[in-house]
Amino acid sequence: MLRLPLLFIATGIVSFVLFHAGSLFTAGGWALDHPRSPDGWFRVHLLVLDWATMVAMGAVYQLIDVVLQRRIFSRILGYVHYVFFTGGTVILLTGFLQSRVEWIAVGAVAAVTGILLFVWNVGRTLWEAKRWNPITLSTACALFYLAGTGLLGLAMGLNFAFPWWADVHERLLAAHIWLGTLGWFGLLITGFSYKMLPMFYLSHGASDRPQYIILGLWNAAVIVGVWASLGPGGSWPLLAGILLLAAALLVYDRLIRDIRKHSHKASPGRGIVWTVWSTRALLVFCILSLGIGLAAPSLLTSLSWIIIAGWVYLWGWVAVTVLGYMSKIVPFLWWTHKYGDQAGRPGVPVMSDLISERSIDAGMWVMAAGLLIALAGMGVMEPRAAVTGIAALSAGALFYIGVIARVFTK
Ligand code: HEM
Repeated sequence: MLRLPLLFIATGIVSFVLFHAGSLFTAGGWALDHPRSPDGWFRVHLLVLDWATMVAMGAVYQLIDVVLQRRIFSRILGYVHYVFFTGGTVILLTGFLQSRVEWIAVGAVAAVTGILLFVWNVGRTLWEAKRWNPITLSTACALFYLAGTGLLGLAMGLNFAFPWWADVHERLLAAHIWLGTLGWFGLLITGFSYKMLPMFYLSHGASDRPQYIILGLWNAAVIVGVWASLGPGGSWPLLAGILLLAAALLVYDRLIRDIRKHSHKASPGRGIVWTVWSTRALLVFCILSLGIGLAAPSLLTSLSWIIIAGWVYLWGWVAVTVLGYMSKIVPFLWWTHKYGDQAGRPGVPVMSDLISERSIDAGMWVMAAGLLIALAGMGVMEPRAAVTGIAALSAGALFYIGVIARVFTK
């Protein structure tokens, strides 16, 4: 039963190692190249598709069971999804790297087929369960946005091969990024956190009202952002999207405080504490972006700011949250898989024996320091600082994922 989630998570870990080994290979220098280049597309998608999305899909297959108390609609379809998605992304990424437009188009078709199979499988499970609450609604919205991200990616991939929509390509890209980052990752992370944070904190009795408010505000931010991308443009719709996101994050932070107030555990674990801090850091960054957008709107749409915002959101929040949650989910899955039926017998480890909290904390410190140095370097146009920071981030990330992967040896 746990094989399918573990398959996705293990593949995600391999992609993560490839990404950071590749980053260290250039001593972080790749981050200085233009992101819209074959190398940039390859690296970005290795991280967002083959690592973060892969791990997120594994987590969905596992958690849907916990949330709905029912099995996924079809496990076989889950494996078919894995084959299409993994095979498709390998072809897509090779196409990006080698600038082979026909590979990009074929890979995009296969990867999107995988995504649609996943959306169908999980969507059907949710539909049949008919248990609508902020967790299931957020998951359904995240799935919808993932399908949109994939279809827009496919449209752009086809556009490379046959320039059918050349004049709207830039708008499609902006909508693709907004849907993938805020829509897919944002709603999945917040939605699953409503279930997981109380579990990690052993917390009962926090109000679920903020969950509905976050769901509404976050969806509004996604929709306004997509409208800003596809529609007439200008800085006001973009500012409105950021304002809505900041409001959603503010309520999300209040919810986390409430969960902590009702906690019956001294600490949820260092990885989880880091995810809470990363949410606050993202909130501060959103407020800063709003200020900048009001004072100098053109700066907000400059390439430098978009790149900084991408690093803050995707690394500072999405990656830190996925990595933090992995420090809990992986030991749980592995312990249940290997020792679940022997609990309490002599010589059988307890779950906390499988992972070192100190190593988790150390890895997070190195990654955070690396990211901050890189952001400062990008902000003041000091390439050496940016490159050093990225190299440190990758070294910390490899150490961290090593700590997670060691769980499988215990
Ligand atoms: C099967 C799914 C996907 C396909 C086929 C796809 C395809 C593409 C293509 C063709 C581009 C290049 C567009 C251009 O610069 O003209 C692109 C850029 C981008 N995509 Fe995707 N994508 C997919 C999924 C995702 C997901 C899930 C995310 C999550 C956030 C994402 C984030 C991005 C980002 C940030 C860029 C800009 C990167 C850069 O300029 O280097 N993509 N995508």
